[in-house]
Amino acid sequence: MNNPDLFSPLTIGDVALNNRVIMAPLTRTRAGEGNVPHALNATYYRQRASAGLIISEATQVTPEGQGYLYTPGIHTDEQVAGWKLVTNAVHEEGGKIYMQLWHVGRISHPDLQPNNQLPVSASAIKPEGYARTLNGRMEFVTPRALETDEVTQVVQQYADGACRAKMAGFDGVEIHGANAYLIDQFLRDGSNQRTDRYGGSIENRTRFLREVTEAVVDVWGAGRVGVRLSPGRPSANMQDSDPAALFSHAASLLNEYGLSYLHLYETTDEAREITHLIRERFTAPLIVNGGYDKQRANQVIAQGIADAVAFGKLFISNPDLPKRLQLDAPLTEPNPKTFYGRDGVGYTDYPFMTETALK
Ligand SMILES: Cc1cc2nc3c(=O)[nH]c(=O)nc-3n(C[C@H](O)[C@H](O)[C@H](O)COP(=O)(O)O)c2cc1C
Repeated sequence: MNNPDLFSPLTIGDVALNNRVIMAPLTRTRAGEGNVPHALNATYYRQRASAGLIISEATQVTPEGQGYLYTPGIHTDEQVAGWKLVTNAVHEEGGKIYMQLWHVGRISHPDLQPNNQLPVSASAIKPEGYARTLNGRMEFVTPRALETDEVTQVVQQYADGACRAKMAGFDGVEIHGANAYLIDQFLRDGSNQRTDRYGGSIENRTRFLREVTEAVVDVWGAGRVGVRLSPGRPSANMQDSDPAALFSHAASLLNEYGLSYLHLYETTDEAREITHLIRERFTAPLIVNGGYDKQRANQVIAQGIADAVAFGKLFISNPDLPKRLQLDAPLTEPNPKTFYGRDGVGYTDYPFMTETALK
């Protein structure tokens, strides 16, 4: 295609998208009882169905994978039924939606865990910061390092979540390998000090990512599986001695599968540098994200650095973002106070563009 831009169609593996304005995964903490999606969530996603692709909010594949109150899961039949409301709504509007499969690892707290057990991670290293629980703000704890043979069970939890996502009617899934959660905890040597086959060398630290990818690809086929990584430093307590080498290797290994896409959350300038290294190694579609506007998005697409761009905060406050970007219409500013909440305020009440807004 000549000179593609944000509004050109794009095929990602087995899925054809109408445009390249992707809705980034956005946790909104508005699931119902039992972490089950409900009608309000369906309305929110329906409103945003003009995105080339919606990536759902992060969704825990197992109760141990939860780190925040009121985030949806994909490990019960009720959750499958709840998600069907969402996927039906998006499909009725002609949209496409992938589910983001999530396990938080150590970014949790016993108050959020089944039987108040310790959260699990690659190694028993306590992260800095706090979890919000029904008992208030609680400092993170030292997690329990997964035993070598337990890692296989966690891989299976991703596969089970992937199966349930299929039953719920999604078009595909995105493996959440970003933002300091469990896969990221295995990837980086600051949080992974294991001495078994999952720790030490870069090859070993990427083994968990590889196994999860293979298990999920077995369920969906590679053409409907994306992976999200955040090669920069996603938070103060995530360290790696050589992120360029680590994420270049991850890109090369993921390139073997013919995935639907790789999605990079660029949190720093260093991450944007790593995007170039990844582009050289990863030949399937690349989605970039992190503070993009229309101009910069079109630039990276025109330059061939990325094939599509995901927008987070702008999609919160502009349900019809693709149309607004295309027409250069004014954008509504998002209100961070209602990013997380329990109701429709700051969620389903952001206005669509009107004729008057165009004048
Ligand atoms: C309220 C909020 C919730 C988020 N939830 C998730 C999430 O569930 N999964 C994820 O990978 N990233 C999550 N992110 C990160 C966004 O996907 C995105 O990377 C970030 O907002 C930067 O993009 P932007 O500058 O276009 O907003 C979240 C960000 C915000 C502001």
